[in-house]
Amino acid sequence: MAATKDVLLNVFRFNPDVDSKPRYDAFALEAKPGMTVLEALFALLERQDGSLAFRYCCRGAVCGACAMYINGVYRLACKTQLDIVGPQVTVSPLPFMRVIKDLVVDMAPFWRNYEKVMPYLVEGSRAPERERGQSPRQRAVFDDATCCILCGCCYSSCPSVWTGGGEYLGPSALNKAWRFVSDSRDAGARERLAVAASENGLWRCHTAFNCTEACPKNTNPTQAIQNLKARAVKRALTGR
Ligand code: F3S
Repeated sequence: MAATKDVLLNVFRFNPDVDSKPRYDAFALEAKPGMTVLEALFALLERQDGSLAFRYCCRGAVCGACAMYINGVYRLACKTQLDIVGPQVTVSPLPFMRVIKDLVVDMAPFWRNYEKVMPYLVEGSRAPERERGQSPRQRAVFDDATCCILCGCCYSSCPSVWTGGGEYLGPSALNKAWRFVSDSRDAGARERLAVAASENGLWRCHTAFNCTEACPKNTNPTQAIQNLKARAVKRALTGR
């Protein structure tokens, strides 16, 4: 049987209802080979501190719920093995987001901005009998943008979000706007582009690249935003 390893976890703790300020609690843990940070948090919850709060859902790196700041890097806890980040692991909530409790942050501003860009396909004509066709070439235009899992890492990392008072749409919403604006089947580009290019939209992006650096799925929201900027300029100049 493979050997266990001793790991020291420093976990951010803060309950705004009772704590005057945040702190880090240290927990020692015997980690099995391949154990993830999420599994470690569960072990702490079950055996050491039942009050620890964190978010999770799929455990397969596709839902984005367990996005955290682990040893100073944006990561998904379910995809991060202690073997890679240990033996000392500092686990913090997504920076610059309001903490609800411990590792759980308030995602409401993120979702509010996401909804504004109409993150769904707008049908312009009656549905065809079978399907709306799209060539591999047309699909490839927005392929990268479809890999976003809405974890919020990019939103948390963006300096324009930090200073935008919750109003800047943010990289994830703009990435989604590009995903549909560039979809050959979509008929909502005009309206969506108007939102994306509004006062709190894409012109607030200063190409910091933090979002692309932070993305745990290796998507490139910076590129998506530059594509949107080019599309917005073209529309302003030509009306198309
Ligand atoms: Fe922010 Fe990404 Fe632009 S970090 S400033 S949205 S390139």
